[in-house]
Amino acid sequence: MAIREIVKIGDEVLRMRAKEVTDFGPNLGVLIDDMFETMFKADGVGLAAPQIGIVRRVCVVSVDGGKTKYELVNPVILKSSGTQRGAEGCLSCPGRSGIVCRPKKLTVQAQDRTGETKLYKVDGFTAVAFCHEIDHLDGVLFIDKAESED
Ligand code: CO
Repeated sequence: MAIREIVKIGDEVLRMRAKEVTDFGPNLGVLIDDMFETMFKADGVGLAAPQIGIVRRVCVVSVDGGKTKYELVNPVILKSSGTQRGAEGCLSCPGRSGIVCRPKKLTVQAQDRTGETKLYKVDGFTAVAFCHEIDHLDGVLFIDKAESED
């Protein structure tokens, strides 16, 4: 495993629409492991592949320090309900935070590193992290949606 360099705001890779993953070979597992390691090292709760310069639809989330680890390949939000407002930051936007309105509950379909399709029902802060990371795959940053910034 290896720590990858996190791309910062201003780099155009953060604004690109990431491509679907079609190759579920061993390199994908290496990428996902590196993303978790890079995220934990940076004290983040989520990381999307474009944030390390890989324009593919992959993101990882763990809001409990690694007890529950989500790897989301080609994620799709099937259903969302409710709203919640909370402070967000981003490893690609150091020093910035703002209040963002997100759904309270989500149903997300995604593949894992082997290509198996899984269904996730998440709420609360995990739902916020899923939305934030999936936005990254479409070139959207939390500052685009923030109602106010600190
Ligand atoms: Co982010």
